[in-house]
Amino acid sequence: MKPGQRQKKLAVAKQKRRRQTILFFGVAAGVLLIITAVLWPSQNNNGGGAGFLSDSELELVAMGEGVYNTYCAACHGFTLEGQPSWQEPFADGSFKAPPHDETGHTWHHDDAYLLESIKLGGARLAPTIGVSAMPAYDEILTDQQITAVLAYIKSQWPAEILEAQSTR
Ligand code: HEC
Repeated sequence: MKPGQRQKKLAVAKQKRRRQTILFFGVAAGVLLIITAVLWPSQNNNGGGAGFLSDSELELVAMGEGVYNTYCAACHGFTLEGQPSWQEPFADGSFKAPPHDETGHTWHHDDAYLLESIKLGGARLAPTIGVSAMPAYDEILTDQQITAVLAYIKSQWPAEILEAQSTR
């Protein structure tokens, strides 16, 4: 073999090896990408245990925050604190809006009661219990918005209050 031919052969072999290396890393990167894509969403899918919300729950809470600030905060407070001196009635004898945070009694009730309260408002109260100016939201908000606003309120509760309410 002439020296020139030998060099050419070596160069071809080198090029082939380089191509194989590129192919190997290309395939490895592709496989890694697929594994990441498969595993990534499951990390955010309630897999983290208590306190971790799935993407759809986070969306519901975000929607609920908007509903709350628009429709509820004027009475129940922007930080869920309720009306000042909420335990005492207004001069006309009607109820003030209680807090929805852990200092109120919202968490003393189960979800079904709370959803019903939002849908029917003060009109649900028997006259012997008292008068409340809370509007009925069943004609104003969709069921999804009502679920969302409760999800938002609950998202603001500490873990032990959330736990206590779940057994009501
Ligand atoms: C005009 C003022 C007012 C607005 C606006 C208002 N509320 Fe109320 N809400 C009250 C009053 C007063 C009470 C206490 C009497 C009663 O239960 O109706 C109350 C009670 C509640 C209760 C029952 C709490 C319990 O412990 O029994 C829930 C739940 C509630 N409101 C949720 C909401 C939500 C959610 C919104 C917004 C979509 C809202 N409220 C808007 C005045 C208001």
